[in-house]
Amino acid sequence: MISGANRGLGNAIARRLHDDGYNVSVGGRDIDALRRSMDGYDDDRVLCHCYDATQPETGAAWIHATIEQFGSLSGLVNNAGIIDTAELDVLTEESLDAMWAVNVKAPFRMIQLALPHLRTDGSGRVVSIASLAGVRVMGTFAPGYAMSKHAVLALSEATKQAGWDDGIRVTSVCPGFIATDMTKDFGGDQATMIDASDLAELISTTISLPNTASVAQLNVACRLEPHF
Ligand SMILES: NC(=O)c1ccc[n+]([C@@H]2O[C@H](COP(=O)([O-])OP(=O)(O)OC[C@H]3O[C@@H](n4cnc5c(N)ncnc54)[C@H](OP(=O)(O)O)[C@@H]3O)[C@@H](O)[C@H]2O)c1
Repeated sequence: MISGANRGLGNAIARRLHDDGYNVSVGGRDIDALRRSMDGYDDDRVLCHCYDATQPETGAAWIHATIEQFGSLSGLVNNAGIIDTAELDVLTEESLDAMWAVNVKAPFRMIQLALPHLRTDGSGRVVSIASLAGVRVMGTFAPGYAMSKHAVLALSEATKQAGWDDGIRVTSVCPGFIATDMTKDFGGDQATMIDASDLAELISTTISLPNTASVAQLNVACRLEPHF
């Protein structure tokens, strides 16, 4: 299951996992846009389902539909996310609440719903797309987003410990800037940023590792941050 798969990193992950032979269940707010973004996929191996991170019932329905279609669940990728780059002095509580809802509470809820199925699988995988903003605060840039992404790392660690004995392995992916819609107005040159397909390849490799090789955190820097 991959959330926010209609564009950006989520779409690249869905494409990669599909091409690697997985059945993919993709969730997005706009079901028509989601279906269009899956053009060319093998219909038998793709489920498109409505998922809005701010609407808990859509997450429960999506999991239910996934189990109905494929009979089991072996992996969950929490990808959907939003950013507000406002500096601390002007960041509003409303904006912080919005980021908390989509970036933290929704993955928490999806993990809770997925855990029973992942435990049955014996080698379940959870990947949550955090950010380098989850391990550092970049000057005055996007402090509220950084707060939410730091919380994603704690959620991943808690999930890892909860599921370890049942073979569940959990990875926080922490990229620097990725060349997607999210960064197109940041002012930087997207050619210096990470290509989403490269991250998708790393994620595919990470989830394919045996239970004896767990990658808890994957930091991936673009050309702008040589120290990571
Ligand atoms: N781009 C970067 O530099 C960067 C760096 C580090 C980490 N990340 C993280 O990587 C993940 C993917 O980001 P991206 O760069 O691909 O961003 P993006 O191009 O802006 O795409 C964001 C995705 O999240 C979905 N989404 C947003 N709010 C949602 C909601 N309420 N319910 C369901 N889906 C929702 C969007 O769906 P709609 O099309 O419906 O809006 C879209 O599919 C995010 O978690 C982001 O924080 C990004």
